[in-house]
Amino acid sequence: MEAQQEYRVCALDEIPDGDGVLGIAGSLEVGVFRRGQQLYAYENRCAHQGGPVCTGELLGKTVQILDEGKEVTAEIFDESEMHLICPWHGWEYDLATGELACDRRYRLRRFDVSVRDGIVYVSAPNGAD
Ligand code: FES
Repeated sequence: MEAQQEYRVCALDEIPDGDGVLGIAGSLEVGVFRRGQQLYAYENRCAHQGGPVCTGELLGKTVQILDEGKEVTAEIFDESEMHLICPWHGWEYDLATGELACDRRYRLRRFDVSVRDGIVYVSAPNGAD
């Protein structure tokens, strides 16, 4: 197993609830997102073509409401599953898992994230690249 190193990203209160910040872990750019008490950290690199996925919007999963004839009558954003939308071509990742919402074989590179004394740390491979 690769040796891990902790990298300080920012103070916890610098990450608004429902939003994220970019930080550096060694030579990697990472996005750290906050949802309530939960934090998620991913490399800022889309699985599609390497776009800056962590600079994208966070939106609830799109749910279509159908009538009895299976015609779409409305679309809503279901915030029980938040999606991170890559700004380059719109690939949508499940914020909680980093998996591509429409094909779970693809995923973002995820890192452990922790908080001590109000400071957010990301664990990445030593000399991460
Ligand atoms: S690079 Fe992210 S959707 Fe294409």
